[in-house]
Amino acid sequence: MEQHDLIIIGGGPAGYVAAERAGHKGLKVLLFEKKSMGGVCLNEGCIPTKTLLYSAKTYENALHGDRYGVFGDNIRFDFSAMMARKNKVVKKLVAGVEGKMKMNQVTVIKGEAMIVGRGKEGVEVSCAGNSYKGRNLLICTGSEAFIPPIPGLKETGDKSGNIILTNREILELKEKPDSLVVIGGGVIGMEFASFFNSLGTKVTVVEMLPEILGGLDLEISAMLRNHYAKKGIAFNLNAKVVKVEGNQVIFEKEGKTETIESDKILVSVGRRPVIQGFGLENLHVELYKGGIKVDEKMRTNVPGVYAAGDVTGFSLLAHTASREGEVVVNNLTGRNDRMRYNAIPGVVYTNPEVAGVGETEESARAKGIKYRIAKLPMAYAGRFVAENEGGSGICKVLIGEKHGEVIGVHMLGNPCSEMIYGACMAIEQEMTIEQLQEVVFPHPTVSEIFKETIHLTPALSKGEGVSKRFKIK
Ligand code: NAI
Repeated sequence: MEQHDLIIIGGGPAGYVAAERAGHKGLKVLLFEKKSMGGVCLNEGCIPTKTLLYSAKTYENALHGDRYGVFGDNIRFDFSAMMARKNKVVKKLVAGVEGKMKMNQVTVIKGEAMIVGRGKEGVEVSCAGNSYKGRNLLICTGSEAFIPPIPGLKETGDKSGNIILTNREILELKEKPDSLVVIGGGVIGMEFASFFNSLGTKVTVVEMLPEILGGLDLEISAMLRNHYAKKGIAFNLNAKVVKVEGNQVIFEKEGKTETIESDKILVSVGRRPVIQGFGLENLHVELYKGGIKVDEKMRTNVPGVYAAGDVTGFSLLAHTASREGEVVVNNLTGRNDRMRYNAIPGVVYTNPEVAGVGETEESARAKGIKYRIAKLPMAYAGRFVAENEGGSGICKVLIGEKHGEVIGVHMLGNPCSEMIYGACMAIEQEMTIEQLQEVVFPHPTVSEIFKETIHLTPALSKGEGVSKRFKIK
């Protein structure tokens, strides 16, 4: 049996990036993918949603062209054309990933891999009756939508009469629903809420917590919610869905039970690592909180077995996954590397976008970190004013009180998804505000807001009690 240096199960952002890097460094790599290369991110997550959101943004820009002196008649959209373009983009990028595999001499087997066990020489994996051996195994099986045990949801799951949808089925809709209830106002929920709101669907978000987008900067989440409330999305906060009956969503809010009827229901209450169905039990790998337990080098408790991406259940983001895959390959090829989670950006691709990295006020307070805040409206950047007629936004920088280093940056306003990496670098490199002030930013760009925020805020305010108006339990 042929021996491989690295066997990878799963061709998502963790698996395909690891395969590409390992192949590039000369390792003999074998990757198994049972569906389509690119995983959830490329096929039913990041890429298709961003493609659709761009269609929605283009439509809205056309509708409001008069703000920029541009006029058009009969501005309309074609839902099926948007969906067709989404499919085209996905297809093109899947082919791109396949091309990268070929270019780096990675052998890809389209099929379902089963771990047989681990012997002296490494791990054995079978697929369609054939056996394969690898000195090392990297598990990147990803995550799947979590369907909570809510009566009416559990029995019907995501397949019932096509009313209840997850992120997967909603991307296959043939026509725009007239109304949509989104259960869970997290990242997936808000991106789809934004998309359908732009197209005129009546959207209602039901969120269990006191604010949408938990984990993000609370002040910014509230600003985004207010923006969308003005655009017609109905928000029910502190509202827990307790039952679904046909097209009715029943939730409890402030001791009362309320019911909403809707054409479609999106379930977006989180995702769960995929740890079953591929023979993981044959390795006796240790688990933690439903995912595979790993150390900072992405090693499991079994020698030669690694895990990366959503399957670890830790930071369910494509860019985290890719970096984790790189950490595995770097350590396999002689570079001492470790995974760090303090500078992982989080982006919500609503319109306006939200982007943040590092500590939020809430997380800093919880950890007892002393910090100061610099905060400016986005309108301080000339380019933002030029391109966002009537738009508002904010940039907020958290600075460690002791050393003056940047510990968190949070923004609302386009195109903060493209700017946040600068803040990631500052946090990763533990840059102080003095060091950042010496960096030259291109003018005119919206990115200048980062530098301006640090410069112009006359006296940095102490970050205590900023979020008093939000009652967090
Ligand atoms: P999430 O964890 O972001 O949000 C789920 C929300 O559902 C939470 O706010 C929770 O309080 C709420 N919830 C739970 N049970 C509920 C109930 N019974 N009634 C009402 N609300 C309830 O999960 P989501 O949005 O499904 O996303 C899954 C993962 O995918 C996340 O880890 C996210 O980071 C990732 N993702 C990232 C994207 C990005 O980076 N732009 C885009 C899409 C997904």
